[in-house]
Amino acid sequence: MENKVLIFDTTLRDGEQSPGATLNLPEKLEIARQLARLGVDIIEAGFAIASPGDFEAVSRIAQDVGQHENGPIITSLARCNKTDIDRAWGAVQAARKPRIHTFLATSDIHLQHKLKLSRNDCIEQVGDLVAYARGLCADVEFSPEDAGRSDPEFLYQVLDVAVAAGATTLNIPDTVGYCAPDEYGALIAGILKNVPSITAKGVIISVHCHDDLGLATANTLAGIMAGARQAEVTINGIGERAGNTSLEEVVMALKTRPQFFKGLDTRIDATQIVRTSKMVSAMTSIPVQPNKAIVGVNAFAHEAGIHQDGMLKNALTYEIMRPESVGWTSTNLVLGKHSGRAALADRLKQMGYELPREELDKAFQRFKALCDKKKVVMDADLEALLADQLEQLNEVFKLDHINVTTGTGNTPVASVRLIDEGGELREDAALGNGPINAVCNCINRITGADAKLLEFHVHAVTEGIDAIANVTIRVEMTADDKKKYVFSGRSADTDTLVATGRAYLAAVNKGLARGAKSSAVNAGKIEAV
Ligand code: KIV
Ligand code: ZN
Repeated sequence: MENKVLIFDTTLRDGEQSPGATLNLPEKLEIARQLARLGVDIIEAGFAIASPGDFEAVSRIAQDVGQHENGPIITSLARCNKTDIDRAWGAVQAARKPRIHTFLATSDIHLQHKLKLSRNDCIEQVGDLVAYARGLCADVEFSPEDAGRSDPEFLYQVLDVAVAAGATTLNIPDTVGYCAPDEYGALIAGILKNVPSITAKGVIISVHCHDDLGLATANTLAGIMAGARQAEVTINGIGERAGNTSLEEVVMALKTRPQFFKGLDTRIDATQIVRTSKMVSAMTSIPVQPNKAIVGVNAFAHEAGIHQDGMLKNALTYEIMRPESVGWTSTNLVLGKHSGRAALADRLKQMGYELPREELDKAFQRFKALCDKKKVVMDADLEALLADQLEQLNEVFKLDHINVTTGTGNTPVASVRLIDEGGELREDAALGNGPINAVCNCINRITGADAKLLEFHVHAVTEGIDAIANVTIRVEMTADDKKKYVFSGRSADTDTLVATGRAYLAAVNKGLARGAKSSAVNAGKIEAV
């Protein structure tokens, strides 16, 4: 245990707090299952009190992935009050290994301006509520939010009280990504030295860093070197603002430099990293930057002639890890129109997708339709189809038909037919300054949404003239509270404009499901004559 660092994955909680990264229940379940395959020790499955949907997602993950023998601990975040803690416990208690993760800010900035709480009241609240959580669950994590900017002497007192109240893990967040590596390492060392009850009771120190200054991984590693034995991370480093520490960077740093990191290691199966990264990117619609360490498409690409020459002579010249060791494969099993349902199911399973029968049937139909348009179907095609299929669950409006006329010398016009929740057809047409704009305008007219297109990305999933187009879209919509929120949508199709219509509609559907305003309740209804 001494030289093992526990990996606490918070992709489904802190990661999902990235603007527009909202995930639906089936997507969260698939990601949780993949995280279990990856070998994470703890899954923070959500913030149970945040909404009934969040509560359900945490509960379902506890009832599913949380039942695996030797599987991960399942936890939910909770503010330091009884209502939140009860809700978190309600959601995780079905897991074999449940944990409650509660937090309260300790920096003066947060105490004075956000919480209006004195230091004494903060200490009392931590003692009472950690003890309350411990009365429910044997595994309790406490986080002093904004620890990185807290007065260390005060922090020591709070942590000592949390240990006395029964906390089994103490997480030290650099909430705003403010610390420098030496400073953060010294903070962890100072905590271990000045709060002797931590070592006496075998409490684990955890690190949780944000990337506002691009230092999250460096800070996390500094914390581990100073004695932390749990790292809180997300896949691809997604998360609030600039994101969290990325799992793949910490895991591979420890693996690649064992001597420097004193033999500290994790239980992660690194060959699952790329697959997990792709799944999270597809489902959150957050693309991975090409030069991202470990999981970016260029992470192992050698462009310069001198580098290529060196690589041909000996890969060690320019490569510190083998691409296969993190799951990059050049072998893409190919399926085609003669492949049956069993072959598809088998391939999907190998790719990490375990679909219920109904979903598999749908996937098979789409696979067959794709085979009519594309000779060979690669893993990347299946990934795009699957991500698309999961996205289309929980739809308010379904796309029934789309037609776009465009070209030189005429104004692009889109006609779209949707099926609403009641099963009724809604149809309309709209002009646009381009074909994409026409499609978006038309969907806004029918749904009554005030959606504004913020981002539009299209990329070919594979090479070749018959490649599938993967479209990712971000829209801004106004909710009942008059605030603007960002929603994302994605879709994949051999026709880029069909994929555009579906991706835009997926984003609008998410907004409507979350209470974004819709003005035209009956717009586009087709009246019987
Ligand atoms: O960044 C942070 O402080 C957090 C805590 C709630 C753990 O995410
Ligand atoms: Zn955080």
